[in-house]
Amino acid sequence: MVITEPVNTKRGQELIPAGTTLTKQLISRMEFYGISSACIDETSILTEEEVQLALRAAMEQKLAQLPQEVAEEENAEPQNPIPQSEVAYSQKVKRSKSFQEYSLNSTLVTKTLQDQLEGFVLHQKPLDFDLLLNSAMSLITPGQTVIQYFDMLHNLRSSDDSVYSHSLNVAMISRILGKWLKWSSSDLDSLVLAGLLHDIGKITIPSEILNKEGKLTDEEFEMIRWHPRAGYDLIRDLKIDSRIKKATLQHHERCDGSGYPMKADEIMLDDFSMIVAIADVYDAMTAARKYRAPLCPFQVIREFERDGYHKYRTEYLLTFLRQIASTYQNNRVILNDGQAAKIILLNQNSLSEPLVQLDDGSCIDLATSPLYIQSIV
Ligand SMILES: [Fe+2]
Repeated sequence: MVITEPVNTKRGQELIPAGTTLTKQLISRMEFYGISSACIDETSILTEEEVQLALRAAMEQKLAQLPQEVAEEENAEPQNPIPQSEVAYSQKVKRSKSFQEYSLNSTLVTKTLQDQLEGFVLHQKPLDFDLLLNSAMSLITPGQTVIQYFDMLHNLRSSDDSVYSHSLNVAMISRILGKWLKWSSSDLDSLVLAGLLHDIGKITIPSEILNKEGKLTDEEFEMIRWHPRAGYDLIRDLKIDSRIKKATLQHHERCDGSGYPMKADEIMLDDFSMIVAIADVYDAMTAARKYRAPLCPFQVIREFERDGYHKYRTEYLLTFLRQIASTYQNNRVILNDGQAAKIILLNQNSLSEPLVQLDDGSCIDLATSPLYIQSIV
């Protein structure tokens, strides 16, 4: 359907110009602004076949732009460059055969996820949950340790930062946490789907707002904070585990009521939502950003500790941070003063500050020292 008169916000700002073909994305944007009607050219109502052709053309145009976006991302210089020691370790991981296999598989799975989610939101196609789950599970290699998996994850993030690769990472991290909590395999499967779908609402946000580098206006900021609600509305009527739907709606809520979109109290928050919330924050912090290098896992643990356990479900966050910290027990690290050391004992009261041993044999308790772990070697 084509709009005959411009659609304006209540403040009189033009939202959709006349002559625009309506899409599900635009309808969702109108809903966000509380606009319930628009003037339609009745002769413009397309047949199903014409709709499919128009959507396919729009999709192809969008896909053609993707390599350009990725290239721009790769060329961006972070202001806080990655330490040399970490670059060397990162290069070692990237050169390994298992990383190259993981990288290729992950690209394919990410593309499947993108096709499925965009097909659903933009083309009104049904989601194939078996395909989504099987694709994600194909990334799990028998015998692979969690530390090896996190290595893959951290090194892949610098080259692909899309909503889809983030959702895939959140799905896999959520599954790892669910496994650490000894959840059943059917719950773990649902958890993977919850991670894959949690940011589906972002597809309704215009990419120029989603990827805007400058400061967002209040309206743009509100539109981004609306994505959990938009996502929930998109999947509300699907016949799937209701916890998956809640995770989409609640993954930015916090147990102390400081989250969004509803500032919900802890009692309202579902277990799935609280797992996805932790995985979401962890993945965002370990991703490379234009203004900073990826944070190393111990810096992420420190950020969670600073942020406060009360914001998350304490049992889940403690399990998550303890397990991550313990995967790096005996690992070599670089401290912020450039010294190399080895983690020899975790400090249960402050997981980001373990006892480390320097190469000369002396030990430093990071809990009582201004030094901290800057990178894993
Ligand atoms: Fe989100």
